[in-house]
Amino acid sequence: MLISCMSVSVEEPLDPATDLHSYANVSSVRMTHVDLDLDVDFDARQLRGACTLDVEGEEGDLVLDTRELTIDRVEVSADGESYREVPFELGAEHAYLGTPLRVERGAASKVRIQYSTAADASGLQWLEPRQTAGREEPFLYSQSQAIHARSWIPLQDTPGARVTYSARVRVPPQLLAVMSAEAASANPASGEYAFNMPLAIPSYLIALAVGDLAFVPTGERTGVYAEPSVVEAAAREFEDTEAMIQTSESLYGPYRWGRYDILVLPPAFPYGGMENPRLTFVSPTTIAGDKSLVSIIAHELAHSWSGNLATNGTWRDFWLNEGFTVYIEERIQEAVYGMERAAMDSSLEIQAFKYELQRLDPRDQVLHVDLAGRDPGEGLTGVPYVKGAMFLRTIEREVGRDAFDDFLRGYFDEFAFRSVTTGQFADYLDAHLLSRHPEAQRAIPVRQWLEEPGLPDHRHEHVSSALEVADVAAAEWFAGSIPAGSLDTAGWTTQHWIRFVRAIPEDAGGERLAELDQAFNLTAATNAEILCEWLVVAIRSGYAAADAALERFLTNVGRRKFLRPLYAELAKTEEGRAKALAIYAEARPGYHPTTVQIFDESLGWAQGGSGE
Ligand code: BES
Ligand code: ZN
Repeated sequence: MLISCMSVSVEEPLDPATDLHSYANVSSVRMTHVDLDLDVDFDARQLRGACTLDVEGEEGDLVLDTRELTIDRVEVSADGESYREVPFELGAEHAYLGTPLRVERGAASKVRIQYSTAADASGLQWLEPRQTAGREEPFLYSQSQAIHARSWIPLQDTPGARVTYSARVRVPPQLLAVMSAEAASANPASGEYAFNMPLAIPSYLIALAVGDLAFVPTGERTGVYAEPSVVEAAAREFEDTEAMIQTSESLYGPYRWGRYDILVLPPAFPYGGMENPRLTFVSPTTIAGDKSLVSIIAHELAHSWSGNLATNGTWRDFWLNEGFTVYIEERIQEAVYGMERAAMDSSLEIQAFKYELQRLDPRDQVLHVDLAGRDPGEGLTGVPYVKGAMFLRTIEREVGRDAFDDFLRGYFDEFAFRSVTTGQFADYLDAHLLSRHPEAQRAIPVRQWLEEPGLPDHRHEHVSSALEVADVAAAEWFAGSIPAGSLDTAGWTTQHWIRFVRAIPEDAGGERLAELDQAFNLTAATNAEILCEWLVVAIRSGYAAADAALERFLTNVGRRKFLRPLYAELAKTEEGRAKALAIYAEARPGYHPTTVQIFDESLGWAQGGSGE
């Protein structure tokens, strides 16, 4: 159906894993290895070179995913030595799926594509020196998940197919190149780097970054890459990574990827973190100075099992990646930082999720979400994350922790280096766990959890009584019984402050916020999570003293988790909307291409005639 916009017809596979978000004809031909040979050209904002795919399967055409790629020529080979040029055809361009590339492959086992990327490729962000900490050198990074690998590599861009990969990249000699792979060779003087990923991964985990990077080890198999001025602080912040790996290994079996390094990106990065294998990418907003936001490392590390080993079959099974990961993240937090900290993080997350859920279209409240006609990256909500983890915690509670740990370990072994669909998971759950625990089977409405909106009544949620003091403090201050300066905030953690700011009543007003600001300096908060919560309250209350901080934050930081509530709060009034558009005009050139796409639409930017 999706392929019908091409002049050729490709038979649609009928298995339940059919990926609505790929044109690739994986049911007849599969890629097994991707080899990249690329020049990184910062002036042209272009990757240029060759991608050679090893393929196997039936004789016939190969259909690949591409997005805004310029294809110069396609060659095929049977032996990997002599290549001959073959005809190819680009189909019609789809708004978010891109353009299918059909290659007359015949029976060849190697397909080499000479190509270059577009300057605004959706999977790449080219940063100006002023967007970096050092302000002297440019920076490039990729973000392939969900369906953006195709904008910088022509391949079968579906999580249902796996590849090993190798790469040679040439970069300006003063810069360092890193990838989600082993470093095979490095020649800093010439700027030539080679990489190898010998384990089969889905295409969305292929990643590249180039910048003025330094490296500081934090353990035998862990370390941090970041710009030189950031790297020491980052290494201190993330020093518990090895302990996290050991916890996860003791629960779910060996860490199979060799090294686990962390790359700290410039603040434009649209996510908190991205689980690229061997090299997690993180936003610098995760560095608070007190390790209070390192749950993100626990999260990205957990994906080394849930996601990178056992991978969502299609994007509608995304909750299998994220729900499991949030569950494991919490288990890591419990072991490394204690039950209380894990419960605080989890209950803050559930608090935010319940607020979000009330405003979500019922069809987006479903774990096994229907994504027909939709871009999988756009409607990212808390549902796959928080509802998914809640489902797993509920099962854990019913069958007991030991039984659930055994089950999960078996699940990761069973599906290691494979894709899993929601249906396969449900079958596996029944066969290996619930059928052995009849009471749990009766108590847990699995189908309702997976296929229906909302939250089943029978569920297990963490509530942290430790955070209640923050609610009480906010109420007492607001009622006037205790002035801000006399609140007992000694020993409060970041989590308490987040809870406190969330508890400030909607109608507090600017003057009352000034009292709080005087006592606690919230407008000057350096913790991005606290600052974002505070700025939302400040907008809502018309607290103008925070305007400069708001503008600074929105123009420096590109993390969508923060941009979304701030722009949404601004857009609630006419005056606020004007302010949002003025800030957006300034910030827009620095945002990631996919972020620009989302906010152009939600802020009505293009309609104003100023877009594109
Ligand atoms: N894999 C996701 C990020 C992602 C999801 C990118 C879908 C593109 C499409 C990553 O593991 C993630 O979940 N990041 C979260 C942080 C996490 C601690 C909840 C984020 O960036 O907010
Ligand atoms: Zn995740």
